[in-house]
Amino acid sequence: MRNAAITGWGMYVPEQILTNAELEQMVETSDEWIVSRTGIRERRLAAPADTTLAMSARASRQAIEVAGIDPSEIDLIVLATVTPDKFMPSTASLLQTELGAHRAAAFDLAAACSGFVYALAVGSQFIQTGVHKTVLVVGTDALTRFIDFTDRGTCILFGDGSGAVVLQASDAEEGVLSNVLGSDGRGAQHLYIDGFDSNGLYGRTISSNGNGTGNAAVDELQRTYMKMNGNEVYRFSVRVMGETAIEAVNRAGLRLGDIDWLIPHQANLRIIDAAAKRLDLPRDRVWVNLDRYGNTSAASVPICLAEAAESGKIQPGMNLVLVAFGAGLSWASSVVRWGATGVRGKGTERDG
Ligand code: COA
Repeated sequence: MRNAAITGWGMYVPEQILTNAELEQMVETSDEWIVSRTGIRERRLAAPADTTLAMSARASRQAIEVAGIDPSEIDLIVLATVTPDKFMPSTASLLQTELGAHRAAAFDLAAACSGFVYALAVGSQFIQTGVHKTVLVVGTDALTRFIDFTDRGTCILFGDGSGAVVLQASDAEEGVLSNVLGSDGRGAQHLYIDGFDSNGLYGRTISSNGNGTGNAAVDELQRTYMKMNGNEVYRFSVRVMGETAIEAVNRAGLRLGDIDWLIPHQANLRIIDAAAKRLDLPRDRVWVNLDRYGNTSAASVPICLAEAAESGKIQPGMNLVLVAFGAGLSWASSVVRWGATGVRGKGTERDG
């Protein structure tokens, strides 16, 4: 079986910054509360031009450049998102054209904040089984478009962005060593955004006389917003992050002491700290950027990965644990061995 090595990485976050101080003007909250309960200081908001496609294209172009490949070499694009620009076609198909990856198969994958790690598992299987040689895996979300900025329970947490990696077949001892995917739909009501109803209407319809008939002729359309039971999601995530990461380490045939870096989903610093403790990793071996970006959903793990790779702190031979959780409720983890091919491209050029 061939290995699926990460040979390129890229990220994009929108320009507009929303600080905790600005949120203080919008809802009853404080910078002190947000920082102490979540670790978040600011987040990025997608401008109208920052569509899921546009953000994905920017992150993907970087990843392709770092990998030093031509877009025509890409066999498959898997794009994880719960905020696609259109219901059809998939944003992955639009991205294919945007990148000129005309040979690629393309599809979207929806697993909310676990989406990128799910997509990495899917992409790496196609390489490991010999079906494909080069796969582009993207995680992009613009969840702030579905946030009620009068709901202090959710509006402080989320930001927008995109991250991407190129996976390539390799015979070296590197790449994705294990995957763990999970879902428990019994927890679906704890975190959701309503979609179209059976009349094809977006969001929840309310009747003008308030009886909620769902009849398009008489009902007004309401915006659809994210709903979350923060305490339930918190309890679930603290348990599942550590458990699933340890399972991925076991499946890779490694021990906890073999792990060099934790690359976790960026939801809440307290959740990340709990996972790091379970893995027995000190804070300086855990990638954290939620202070700057908040929770970017499917983009959070690949943005961390891109930053970590560019920092030069992850070296060939190091073992990384990627772990995420989200709506579903869902969870996913992968162990990745950073390879020599993962330092070519941009990093190598920069180092001369
Ligand atoms: N600013 C100020 N006070 C707030 C607040 C805010 N933004 N949000 C809630 N509070 C208040 C509550 O009303 C409550 O007040 P009370 O004690 O008077 O009733 C108090 O702060 C504590 O609320 P609680 O919900 O218990 O806080 P918490 O420490 O659990 O933190 C979350 C809330 C949402 C930050 C936390 O539960 C969390 O991170 N959950 C996971 C969410 C998540 O990761 N979602 C995405 C998954 S991909």
